Amino acid sequence: MFHFQFNYLIILTVIYGNQAIDYRYHNYTEMTSILQDLAAQYPTKASLVEIGKSQGGKSLWAMALSSYAPNRHVLLRPEVKYIANMHGNEVVGLEVLLYLVDYLLTSNDTQANQLMNRTRIWIMPSMNPDGLEQSSVGDCTSNTGRYNLNNIDLNRNFPDYYGAALQSSTRAPETSAIMSWLAKVPFVLSANYHGGAFVINTPYDRYYVGSDSASDDDDIYQMIARSYINLTQEVNENCLSEFIDTAFVTRGADWYEVIGGMQDYGYLNYGTIELTMEISCCKYPGGNLLASYWNYNRDAMLQHLFQAQRGVKGLILNEYSKPIPSTQVMIDNRQPVVNVTPLGEFWRILLPGTYTLKVLYQSNTIYSRQIKIGNSLSPLNLTIIISSTVYLPYSLMTTQALSSTGVTPENSQNLLLYLCSLFFISFSC
Ligand SMILES: *[C@@H]1O[C@H](CO)[C@@H](O)[C@H](O)[C@H]1NC(C)=O
Ligand SMILES: *[C@@H]1O[C@H](CO)[C@@H](O)[C@H](O)[C@H]1NC(C)=O
Ligand SMILES: *[C@@H]1O[C@H](CO)[C@@H](O)[C@H](O)[C@H]1NC(C)=O
Ligand SMILES: *[C@@H]1O[C@H](CO)[C@@H](O)[C@H](O)[C@H]1NC(C)=O
Ligand SMILES: *[C@@H]1O[C@H](CO)[C@@H](O)[C@H](O)[C@H]1NC(C)=O
Repeated sequence: MFHFQFNYLIILTVIYGNQAIDYRYHNYTEMTSILQDLAAQYPTKASLVEIGKSQGGKSLWAMALSSYAPNRHVLLRPEVKYIANMHGNEVVGLEVLLYLVDYLLTSNDTQANQLMNRTRIWIMPSMNPDGLEQSSVGDCTSNTGRYNLNNIDLNRNFPDYYGAALQSSTRAPETSAIMSWLAKVPFVLSANYHGGAFVINTPYDRYYVGSDSASDDDDIYQMIARSYINLTQEVNENCLSEFIDTAFVTRGADWYEVIGGMQDYGYLNYGTIELTMEISCCKYPGGNLLASYWNYNRDAMLQHLFQAQRGVKGLILNEYSKPIPSTQVMIDNRQPVVNVTPLGEFWRILLPGTYTLKVLYQSNTIYSRQIKIGNSLSPLNLTIIISSTVYLPYSLMTTQALSSTGVTPENSQNLLLYLCSLFFISFSC
C-alpha cells in the first residue's frame, strides 16, 4: 500500500500542472505574497486575516475560504481550520496547505466546490514563521528552527486543562494568537500538520486519568484518522516501521506524553475534533518531493474537510426565538461538552448511531431527546425550542434550593426576580 506509485504521480502532475503555485518551497515573504495575491484575486471567496504576530513581529496569516461571505461567520455554516509549521522546521505541511488554498480557490473539482459551498475553511500555513526562517532544507531530524524566537516549543505552551506546569512559564505571542482565535470562532474540526514521522495522532496527548489515553470521542477519532491515512502514503519511506503495528494511527500519549499541546487544548476547551497529521518522515525533505506530498495528501484533506458535515447541528432558542446564554450540548455522557454559540448554534460530529442529546444550562440538564445519526455527510439539522420558564429558574435559585426542589423558585425575592426576568425577556432580549 505504501510503495511509490510513479505512473500515478506523473499523470497527476500533468493534470494539475497548470496551477498558479509551483511545487517548491516558499519562504515567508513569498508565502505572504501568494496569500495576498489570491485574496485580492478572489475577494468573494477568500479573506486573509492576521490572527496575531510572531515573536519576531511577522504576521500570522490565516486565509478564510468559502464560496460566499468568507469574511464573516454565517449562521449554521461550520468552521474548520488547518494549521501547519507550528514547529518552524517541519515544512511540508506549510507547502501542502498553500497548494490547498490555491486548489480550493481555482479548481473545478466538484468536491472542492461542495466543500467551499458548505463550510468556512481557515488555513494557516505557518504558525511559526520565525522558526521557519532558521530551518534548512535537507535537515530531517534536528531541532534547529523548531522553537519560536524566544526558544519556546509552541506545542508545549497551551494552558493545561488541569493547570499542570508547562515547559515555559512565558506564553508565546503565537500561542496567545491561536487562543484568542479559538475563543472567537466556533471550530468544529481541525488538523495540525507536522513532520518527522508518518502517523495520524489523536487525543489525548497526555494521560489525564490513569494510563488511559482514549477520549470519549475515540470512536470518532479512530474513524476520521483512518479515513485520512487510508487515502495517503509517505513518499520518502525512512520511518515507516515506527507505526506499522497500529496502522499509522496513535493517540498522542501512547506515542509520548505532551503537556501543553494545542490539540488537547482545542478539544478539551471547545470540543473541536482535533487531529495532528505527521505527514513526512523527514522534517524538511528535498523540494523535489513536494508535488508527490501534495498528490498524496490532497484527496485525504478533501475527505477530511467533509467530516465536519457528519453528525448533528442546529439551533437552541427560547420561545422568543432568542439564543439562551450559557448553554452547552452534551451527547450521552461524553466529555467534553460543546458550547452553544452566542447565536444559539451548535455542531457535534458523530458516527452513525442513536444517541441522547442533552442541553445543559449552567450545568443543569434542561432538555433531552434521542437522535438518530445516519451514515451521511449532511448533518441532522435540529431547531430546539426551550421555554424560558424551563431554564430561567435555574439561574435564580441557590444551589441548595435547586438540589432539593427542582425548578420552582422558593423564596419571594427569587420569585420576584424570576417574574421580572420573564417580563424583561419578552420585551427586550
Ligand atoms: C525569499 O525568496 C525570494 C525568492 O527566492 C528571495 O528573493 C528572497 O530574498 C527570500 N527572502 C528571504 C528573507 O530569504
Ligand atoms: C476542469 O478543468 C480541467 C483543466 O482545466 C479540464 O480539463 C476539465 O475538463 C474541467 N472539468 C470540468 C468538469 O469542467
Ligand atoms: C455551490 O453552490 C452554488 C450556488 O448555490 C451552486 O450553483 C453550485 O452548483 C454548488 N456547487 C456544488 C458542487 O455543490
Ligand atoms: C481503512 O482501510 C482498512 C484496510 O483496507 C479498512 O479495513 C478500513 O475499513 C478503512 N477505514 C476507513 C475509515 O476508511
Ligand atoms: C437548518 O434548519 C434551519 C432552521 O429550521 C434552517 O434555517 C436551515 O436552512 C436548515 N438547513 C441548513 C442546511 O442549515
